[in-house]
Amino acid sequence: MKPKQVITIPAHVAIILDGNGRWAKRRGMPRTFGHQRGVENIKTVTLAAQELGIKVLSVYAFSTENWNRPKAEVDYLMTLPKEFEEKFSSDFEKYNVKVMFSGRKTKMSEENREIMERMTRDTAMRTGIILNICFDYGSKEEITQSVQQIAALIEKSELTSSEITPELIESHLYTKDLPPVDLMIRPSGEQRLSNFLLWQLAYAELYFTPVFWPAFSKKDLEKALEAFTNRDRRYGAIKG
Ligand code: IPE
Ligand code: IPE
Ligand code: MG
Repeated sequence: MKPKQVITIPAHVAIILDGNGRWAKRRGMPRTFGHQRGVENIKTVTLAAQELGIKVLSVYAFSTENWNRPKAEVDYLMTLPKEFEEKFSSDFEKYNVKVMFSGRKTKMSEENREIMERMTRDTAMRTGIILNICFDYGSKEEITQSVQQIAALIEKSELTSSEITPELIESHLYTKDLPPVDLMIRPSGEQRLSNFLLWQLAYAELYFTPVFWPAFSKKDLEKALEAFTNRDRRYGAIKG
């Protein structure tokens, strides 16, 4: 029998939660049913990730481009933060999960803004896995607002252009307190980034699987980690 391989555990895993609609359609159900199951799966996979030793899990739940969907679907997706808070708060407390949100706040309803602020505040002191929920998130928007904040400092003569460094740009991103992404997983068969964490993925390993997000299990996460273990991360250097 082949000895079991020792698995390398990445510190930061990012997942694009894709395939909810197609998963539901295959079952003759409305797309919203897929979104419902998709939300439930965030909890399952977060707890699985914590068990495996992953420190940070970023999930892409709603993009700046997703506003272009039919109003009824967008309206439904905007009810998910509330459902998320109601359904998961007690388990997240039990398992010491810290929740944070990355994304634009300006288009959000007052109610959703409050829910996000409350979850962030209530879980801020926890020491378990960090669940970073990217909601109304777009990488181009994130980098643009970082540049705007830096330009404002220059306008106030608090900074000169030569002081702009990658670290400074990073310190104005939503993810400023997180390590870079080691492994990016996209379920559902699509092989693109769709404006997700472009800066943070600079040296991430990319893993694509045809499994739809609502069906993505701990086993699938383990498969991704196995693939990650077999990657040779060189960061531009040469391995001797
Ligand atoms: C991902 O599933 C969830 C969101 C983008 C909000 P989709 O809704 O994109 O599902 P598919 O890709 O159409 O199957
Ligand atoms: C990416 O999925 C965004 C989220 C999962 C939140 P989409 O389904 O919106 O991406 P595209 O349109 O297929 O690239
Ligand atoms: Mg999709």
